[in-house]
This record gives sequence, C-alpha cells and structure tokens, in this order.
Amino acid sequence: MNNLIDEKYTRMSKDELVRRIAERKRQLGDSVCILAHHYQRDEVFQFADYTGDSLKLARQAAASGAKYIVFCGVYFMAESADILTGDDTAVILPELSAGCALADFALPEDVARAIERITEAVGEQVVVPIAYINSFAAVKAIVGKAGGACCTSSNAKNVCQWALSDKANGGAGADKIFFLPDKHLGLNTAVAMGFKPDDCVRYDPSLDDGGLTDEQIRSCRFILWNGECYVHQVFTVEQVERARRDNEGIKIIVHPECPHEVVSSADLAGSTEQIIRAVEDSPAGSCWAIGTEVNMVSRLARNHPDKHIQLLSDTPAECLTMAKIDLPHLLWVLDNLVEGRVVNRVSVEVDIASDARIALERMVTIKPQAGASAADK
Ligand code: 13P
Ligand code: SF4
Repeated sequence: MNNLIDEKYTRMSKDELVRRIAERKRQLGDSVCILAHHYQRDEVFQFADYTGDSLKLARQAAASGAKYIVFCGVYFMAESADILTGDDTAVILPELSAGCALADFALPEDVARAIERITEAVGEQVVVPIAYINSFAAVKAIVGKAGGACCTSSNAKNVCQWALSDKANGGAGADKIFFLPDKHLGLNTAVAMGFKPDDCVRYDPSLDDGGLTDEQIRSCRFILWNGECYVHQVFTVEQVERARRDNEGIKIIVHPECPHEVVSSADLAGSTEQIIRAVEDSPAGSCWAIGTEVNMVSRLARNHPDKHIQLLSDTPAECLTMAKIDLPHLLWVLDNLVEGRVVNRVSVEVDIASDARIALERMVTIKPQAGASAADK
C-alpha cells in the first residue's frame, strides 16, 4: 500500500502529531529504526535514532538489523538502504515523491547509452564510471556492472583515487573516470586530486554524441555528466567576498555540490557531516558562513549559540523534496506499522539490486583517507 495518507493526519495539530509519534516509537521499540538526513526539518529530525550524511546513513542502514527502517531522507537514500539490507528489513520512505533533483538528471537509459558512446571512443583506454550516491538504483547497477563504484560527497576523492590507481595496488586501473551525475562534485573532486579544470570535459546527455568529439573523450581524464543540484547553485563568489568583508576572521565552508569557483574561494568544503564536525570542533567565538541547505545551517546555529553561524546566501537554500517528509507522513507510516501494515516500502528489483550492491559495497568498504576532512577541497 502506498502514499494514501488519510486526511486526518494533515488536520492534527503539531503537538498532537509529536505526542503520537513519540508513543508509536515507544510501542515499536527496537523493531523500527528512524534514520534522518541532516537536511530534514527539526520537527522530524528530533525523532531520529541516527542522523548523518549519505555515507553515514548508508552504513547505519547496513548495520541496523531493525525489522523496519523509516528513512527520513530522499528516494535514492531509501533505495540504497534497501540494497544494503537483507530481505528481513523493510525500508520505508514516508513520502514516496521525495526524490532528488540531481538524481533526476541521469536516467538509466541515457547512462547506458553514454557508457557505450564513451567506450567506443576510447578504444584501448580504460574508463571507470563513478556514480554519486545521488542517483537511481538502476544507474548504480549499470555502473556496478561496468566495473565502477558509487561515492558520496565525503569519499568522492578516495573513490576516484581507487579508480585511477593501478590494479597491482588494489585500484581499478582506469585511464579516465566517467563521473555522474553531478558536474560540480566531479570537477571539485578532480581539482582536489591535483587535476586541472582542463583535464575535465562535460558530457551532455541531451545530445547523441554527448556534445563531445572522440578526441575530447580520448584526451581528457574526467568526463563529467551535465547535472547539478539547484539548492547549491544559489551560492556565489560574491557572497563569499561579502561575508569576509562584513565579518573579520569568518570561515567559509561549503558543500562540494557548489560550483567550483565557490568551492575554491571558500576556506573549506565537505559533506554535511564534515561541515558539522568542522563547526563543532571550532572554539567558542568562531565565526562561520555555510554554503549548504538551510535546515542544517539553522540547526547548527541554534545548537551553537557560542559561535556566529550564518547561511552564506541571503535567500534560503531549501531542499524542497526533503521537506516533503513531515510529521503527518511520519505518524502515518508508524501508525500502520503498529497495525502490522507496511506502507511506502521502497523495494529495489532483485537484478538491479544485485548489480547496484557491487557499486555500493565497493564504496562502503573504502576507508576514509588520513586527513580527508572538510579541509579537503
Ligand atoms: P551529504 O552526503 O553530504 O549529506 O549530501 C547529500 C546531499 O544530497 C547533499 O545535497
Ligand atoms: Fe538532491 Fe540537492 Fe536535495 Fe541533496 S539538496 S537531496 S542533491 S535536490
């Protein structure tokens, strides 16, 4: 049964919803594990058993052992959790239309066509595809089958280093990387590894040849899919400069889904978890401007009244699909679980799951590099 939330939930007061969710959680005990991404609104976030960035939540899902995982995140996160857990665990997304605009840029059929096009163009060269976790399970499956791996914003550099390392050293022995679907994370990662922007070309899936000549494909080191997350495009270099002018000693930290010029003008870049850690580890009185989703930045500011913490932009950068997970939907799925019904289960088809698992498991077993932190731009 899917997405048929009863209207009574939307009419309940916030206090009533909060009281009932707490009661349902108590009744369900260890059988349910609630995971919440850092971009969730506070009222949902407060009920999480575990919070984290995409990598931490994927690992947590794999380790949870709970009968039900209620994922307060977006669709690709719930798919990844389903792939990484056994058949005994049901993964539930309280609102199935909570997708990811970045994942939507890369449709499986376009990715398969692109891999064919690129493989033909490179001849003897080895290309390894790397799928950002913000992608459909079917895309991860294509990448897993083609010898590639997934990555998140916290381990993109490690995974790309694995791809380009010799097979003798445990790597994939690639001459080049096909990175999808985030062109900004791809470029930021390439530069963090010491490559130049000129070593990267952009693949446009709306064009038959990807908008690239065979020679361009052969001579580059990174082929970047032309996708981006709208939330992180509101941040600009002007905002970085203004924040520095207005606040002496301010540190600027941004998510690597931001454009390259913003990442290179910032002091630090990192995943949501890495941003939180950098702020938490800073001394009282520190001053921060943060370039990522507004719910997380506002929460950080509230949790650290001894520090000055502001959003980098004036306009709030909000992930509208994360916001679809709200108290009424959370209570609705928990009410159903108490009555023995699983609603809004995210269940990846077996064949797709087994290929996608190869790419995801490669990712979760790659160890964080020493020193790979928010300072790793
Ligand atoms: P993190 O893995 O850094 O939490 O990022 C996920 C995401 O969707 C950012 O937009
Ligand atoms: Fe996707 Fe952007 Fe939302 Fe992250 S912030 S889940 S990349 S739409």
